[in-house]
Amino acid sequence: MSNFFRNEIKDLAPYKPGRPIEDVKREYGLDKVVKLASNENPIGCSKKAKEALRKAAKNLAIYPDGNATLLKEAFAKKFNISVDEVLPSSGADEMIDTIAKTFIDKEDEVIMADVTFPRYIATTKMMGGIPKIVPLKDYTYDLDSMLKAITKRTKLIWICNPNNPTGTMITEEEIVKFLDQVPENVVVVYDEAYREYVTRDDFTRDSVKLVRKYPNVLAMRTLSKAYGLAGIRVGYTISNKEIIENLNKVRGPFNVNSLGQAAAIGALEDDDFVKEIYELNLEGKKYLYDELKKMDLSFPPTETNHIYLDVKKDAQEVFIEMQKKGVIIRPMGGTFIRVSIGTMEENKFFIKTLKEVLGKDVEEALA
Ligand SMILES: Cc1ncc(COP(=O)(O)O)c(C=O)c1O
Repeated sequence: MSNFFRNEIKDLAPYKPGRPIEDVKREYGLDKVVKLASNENPIGCSKKAKEALRKAAKNLAIYPDGNATLLKEAFAKKFNISVDEVLPSSGADEMIDTIAKTFIDKEDEVIMADVTFPRYIATTKMMGGIPKIVPLKDYTYDLDSMLKAITKRTKLIWICNPNNPTGTMITEEEIVKFLDQVPENVVVVYDEAYREYVTRDDFTRDSVKLVRKYPNVLAMRTLSKAYGLAGIRVGYTISNKEIIENLNKVRGPFNVNSLGQAAAIGALEDDDFVKEIYELNLEGKKYLYDELKKMDLSFPPTETNHIYLDVKKDAQEVFIEMQKKGVIIRPMGGTFIRVSIGTMEENKFFIKTLKEVLGKDVEEALA
């Protein structure tokens, strides 16, 4: 059977999502479990999305609109683009897959950071591409080294801005300088899943400008984070007409289901909801920064809804111990964990639990 499966998937591991709340409750016999492991929206989603969902749920026997016409129109109106410049997907996850299938040939070199969203490397390998890994510098994308990694065989570059898991960002000036130097035959995927959380003024607020200026750029976004629709799976990608047409050939025929389409249209109408989550995230971030600094723990500044934290202990151990006390976080490599910013109540529970788990170390650090 060893030749049964494609060679390219031999070394792949299934994606490991944050542990579900119910699993942890059952395993440890807990009543209260807080999940801060998947950068979800702690206050849910807009009422407008829920209303739209209720209406759409009345008829599930009919296939969704395979073209997602109304949703494309909603994106077009909101972002001042044409319907030909946007393609919705079943979460950004599906689009990462579609992009890989559309562009990456066997033996193509594909550039990405070492600590970034894991689906970039998985889908690259799936297509038989060769990942070229460029280490982060100060937890941040090192664009100069990425430029140096480009060869004649480079096909695509994955850029996550701001980055998951480190939360760091690159400025508009930096990305423009970078794109100016990337050859036009190299595709650049600009994943801005966390764009709505960015506080800094020097961030590229309007990536449509990049897409219009550079014919090799795709801006990929999601409604899973600030819009709170992770459960229903809607993402979207903005690029030029030719790229969108080609992605459209590769995606699944009904890739965004009818509930997803309806909920997304509702959610897009509610800017106040996104403002509310932005403010809550900022408040939570300030609280967590203060508390973590008091504990003498270090972390890079985040422009997202999560913090990449050095707990100075084996992250896997800390993950297990926190879970036993009802907090699910994400262990990263070595001594780093990633924690999502939750409601203030959740943030406080996280800090209390982290103090308990790190206990002695923290006291020593404070001494
Ligand atoms: C950087 C980044 N890109 C893409 C995704 C996938 O998001 P979606 O839920 O839209 O599939 C995530 C999810 O965590 C992410 O962090």
